[in-house]
Amino acid sequence: MSHPDLFSSFKLGPATLANRIVMPPMTRSRASQPGDIANALMAEYYAQRASAGLIISEGTQISPLGKGYAWTPGIYSPAQIAGWRLSTDAVHAAGGVIFAQLWHVGRVSHPDNLGGMQPVSASAIRANGVRVFVERDGEAGFVETAEPRALDKAEIRAIIAEYAQAARNAMAAGFDGIELHGANGYLINQFLDSESNARDDEYGGCLENRLRFLHEVTSAVADAIGAERVGVRLAPLTTLNGTVDANPEETYTAAAAMLGELGIAYLHIAEADWDDAPPMPASFRQALRRAFPNAIIYAGKYTAERAAQALEEGWADLIGFGRPFVANPDLPARLRAGLPLAEHNPATLFGGGASGLTDYPQATA
Ligand SMILES: Cc1cc2nc3c(=O)[nH]c(=O)nc-3n(C[C@H](O)[C@H](O)[C@H](O)COP(=O)(O)O)c2cc1C
Repeated sequence: MSHPDLFSSFKLGPATLANRIVMPPMTRSRASQPGDIANALMAEYYAQRASAGLIISEGTQISPLGKGYAWTPGIYSPAQIAGWRLSTDAVHAAGGVIFAQLWHVGRVSHPDNLGGMQPVSASAIRANGVRVFVERDGEAGFVETAEPRALDKAEIRAIIAEYAQAARNAMAAGFDGIELHGANGYLINQFLDSESNARDDEYGGCLENRLRFLHEVTSAVADAIGAERVGVRLAPLTTLNGTVDANPEETYTAAAAMLGELGIAYLHIAEADWDDAPPMPASFRQALRRAFPNAIIYAGKYTAERAAQALEEGWADLIGFGRPFVANPDLPARLRAGLPLAEHNPATLFGGGASGLTDYPQATA
């Protein structure tokens, strides 16, 4: 065993994880239509990957207005809750632990994915050049995101309540906890980053104000299901989907400290999604470690070697392996045995059926 630490167990809130390997959230766009309902195929896919210490579900919209892409699942209707129960039961039967990633895309959407509604955001600032996929005659077609409108305060309060209800729904669906998607340019990120938030009320302007939406959403879900069942994903340096902060180290270290005070189970740092972030300076990692007292997950192009180094150096507790999990359902066993990893087929990442989802073979018994 070349990297023992990666294979040691870890206590995360009320859950005991079998290892430090996380399957991070990955949108695969195969929910049943109409209704954006998680289904048996998705349950099979997640159960195949249950040897991960922790699975975090693909982004799951908290409301119809929170949807950004065709065929993504929701968690606001009774049918969606029942659909997710298939996945949580299958993962638990296979010995795994699964959190739901709660998602509101904000401005990263198009009326075609919103039943004709206009997308919403912190401010009426368009994500220039950002594209999402919509359904056109059963096929995915890419379109530019639409101009959003700014949320008023009553709407902000209503969305916070939707997050809390979605967290309760996730518990009703059998999830072990929830992760708030505060990363990759979606709604929470649109409030956090200075270049996507031009509000002049208490939700914009100074750092404390830009942190307020994240604070209120996190408090609401923690009140709903317990802070020990809540994680938050942040992406300090990615420019994905057009959100940029003028001073990410200051913004995100303050966010980490604020989340630490709320007592949530973990902070999940998305370093790069694809190739869209510069390397994170060691001093930034150390600042996050000092600011946040509970578990920290890092994801973004990790190998077993880099993961082991992260654990040894002490700035991470858990490591996410995204794309490697797509084609290597038994990834932990493969990493442990030092087996070569299979490459995934990029053409079957989003949409479609079992091909490229559940038909990647296990290499280990
Ligand atoms: C197909 C695909 C879908 C993704 N969907 C999500 C998502 O729904 N939510 C999210 O936070 N990140 C999403 N990500 C980002 C991954 O969680 C992860 O951070 C990223 O793939 C980098 O890790 P890797 O280099 O190990 O793949 C997605 C990535 C991929 C490849």
